[in-house]
Parts: sequence; C-alpha cells; structure tokens
Amino acid sequence: MTSDAADQPVLVVEDLRTHFLVPAGAVKAVDGVSLSLQRGKTLGVVGESGSGKTVLARTIMGLNIAGNAVTTGSVKYGGKELVGRSSKEMKQLWGTEMAMVFQDPMTSLNPVVKIGRQLVEHVRVHLGASKAEARSIGTELLHSVKIPDADERFDVYPHEMSGGMRQRVCIAMALACSPDVLFADEPTTALDVTVQHQILNLLGSQQRNHNMAMMLVTHDIGVVAGRTDEIAVMYAGKIVEKAPTSALFNEMRHPYTEALLNSIPQTTKPKHTRLSAITGRPPDLINPPSGCSFAPRCPYARPKCHEEEPQLQAAGSSGHEFACHTPVGSPAAKEAFEANISEGLPQALVIAGHGIASEDDPTVWAS
Ligand SMILES: Nc1ncnc2c1ncn2[C@@H]1O[C@H](COP(=O)(O)OP(=O)(O)OP(=O)(O)O)[C@@H](O)[C@H]1O
Ligand SMILES: [Mg+2]
Repeated sequence: MTSDAADQPVLVVEDLRTHFLVPAGAVKAVDGVSLSLQRGKTLGVVGESGSGKTVLARTIMGLNIAGNAVTTGSVKYGGKELVGRSSKEMKQLWGTEMAMVFQDPMTSLNPVVKIGRQLVEHVRVHLGASKAEARSIGTELLHSVKIPDADERFDVYPHEMSGGMRQRVCIAMALACSPDVLFADEPTTALDVTVQHQILNLLGSQQRNHNMAMMLVTHDIGVVAGRTDEIAVMYAGKIVEKAPTSALFNEMRHPYTEALLNSIPQTTKPKHTRLSAITGRPPDLINPPSGCSFAPRCPYARPKCHEEEPQLQAAGSSGHEFACHTPVGSPAAKEAFEANISEGLPQALVIAGHGIASEDDPTVWAS
C-alpha cells in the first residue's frame, strides 16, 4: 500500500440519516451525520442515552434490521457504497471487513454452546479453515486476548465465565478475521471498573496491533479521554462537535460538550468540586425543538438559538468543528449567560459547572 493509500480513510460517512417510522411520525435517530474512519485510528462517539450512537454504528454496518427504518445518505467502505445493500450482501463484510463488539457479551454468545465450539465455528465459517486449523487459530485468539488457560476455556459454557472473560471472547471473535473496522458499542458498560480498564486497554492494544480503524461508542466522555485520536459528540442524532481528542478537551466550543465534561469527576479539580448534572431531558426526536436542539437546556442560549439551526463550522485546530451560535468562551455566550441568570434560569448555573446552592438538586459532590 502506498503512503497516499494509507492516508485515505477506510470508511467515509456522508449525511447519513436513519429515521424510524412510527405511528406518531419519524424518529430522527441519526440525522445528517458525516464522519470518516482512518486505519490505525480510533474515533470516540459520545453522547447521552438516546442520542443515536448505537443506531449510527448499526446503520454504518448495515445492521439496522428494524422494518420501520429508512436510511439515506452515504457510507463508503474502500470507496464502495454500502447504503442500499441487502443484508445478504452486507453479510459478506461482517466479521471479515467490519466487526462489532456489543455492550452485553451475551448478545453475541450462544448460552448453550461451549466457548470453544462457538469460536471454532466462527473461524471455520469466516476463514474456511479446517476443524483442526480453526481450533489452533481459536486457541491463539484466546491467548491474544489474554484469557488464561485458553485450552481449558474451550470447554466451558459462557455462563461459567466472568463478564470480563466473556467480553474477551467476544473481542477474540470480532478480531478473528482481522477486520479493517471495529465498532465497539459501550463494550464495558456492563463490567466493573477494574475490568473496564482491562478491556479498554485490550481493545486499544488490539486496535494498534491490527492497525484497525475503531469507533468506540460510549455515553461516558471519561472513557474516551486517553483512548481516542478524535471524538465526535452526538446530540439528538447529530454530531454537534468533532475534534482531535486533546482539542476537544482543551478548546471545546459546544455548550453540550462542556456540560458532558462538567458531569465527570476530574482529578485536576479541587476536592469537593461539585459535579454538574445536565438538567432537562434530551429532545423528542419526532418533533425536535426548532433551532438548536440543545437550546432548551443550554446556559448560553439566546433567541437566535431557538430559531435558527446552527451548522457545523470549523474551529481553530485542524479537524475541529462545532455547531453553535454561542460557543463556549465567546462574548456572545458570556452575554447570553448573564441575561439567562438575570432571568432566573437555574439550569444555566448547573450546566456551566458553577453548581447551585440547594442540597436537594440533582447534582452530586465529588469526594
Ligand atoms: N426500531 C426503532 N423504532 C423506533 N425508534 C427507535 C428504534 N430503534 C431505536 N430507536 C430510537 O432511536 C433513538 C436513538 O437510539 P440509540 O439506541 O441509538 O441511542 P444511544 O445513543 O445508543 O443510547 P444508549 O446510550 O442508551 O445506548 C432513541 O430515541 C431510540 O428510542
Ligand atoms: Mg446505545
């Protein structure tokens, strides 16, 4: 591969939309997303529950089997269009070119079949290996995801393993055919904190070893902090800010990104710093508010924000984009914030990380 080809994104998504048709209207779960994935790089996708992260990953992979889903836009893999392909055509790419690690390992594993047999069958189907070859590849895979006594683990059922071990097996299966692109959708949410770190470290090392492009989906912006090259922040089916990871943390422009960051504990902040909950609810995806979808919850919203939808615009660092009329740190934001406070909007204080006085508010104290 020439260096030019190596620099090309392996996957390019443009203006992707998935709307679910329900009796009340169309749920705009993914609504005009553009992004690209580069070999050897990790893109983090973060956002609250319901922001469209899973639907985005599944749409890109062609896994949206819901009959009420309408997908438009473009997903180009290796230059070839995937939107509009049938499940039968997409199946040829699943596992071999693109793979997914799901939140709950039991989604991917058959509870009544021993781990080894599942792995061997997976390898045989996708690689056309003989039984003996598949067993040796399977053992090797279990070693590579640091499962101790891999040979013995072949003969256990999924329920006989811990959650972390089961997720390692799923990662081994996802990696079996060295896919170009790996989607990891909340791969550690079901696991305890120590195991979360191990699994995320494992995913990171495997991604580097295999030079894969990875999309790491999470609702926890802390998870993607040190593990991604770039982060896309999703709100109500759209990317509202996208930036190289360090730029996102150091030069964030979107008030929603700021709110997400203020909602996680940070060791750099003084002890007893109050964490901010994001007040209000995510918007109705059937009838989203006019203008900016975040405006009803935004501390810096001004009348324009309720009327005109902001479009993504470039910020300082290369590749940094945000969609906001009153970006964090701008004179317009400062002015709007003061106006909102004088009008008595307490959520402004909460979201902007100032904390509020009452003890029964939804914020919590960092210890
Ligand atoms: N088949 C469907 N029919 C109607 N609406 C759907 C369907 N599937 C998903 N949705 C809606 O699409 C929206 C986005 O869902 P999605 O699962 O992508 O959110 P998410 O960001 O992954 O959230 P979480 O962090 O909870 O996993 C939600 O409002 C969800 O209810
Ligand atoms: Mg999800």
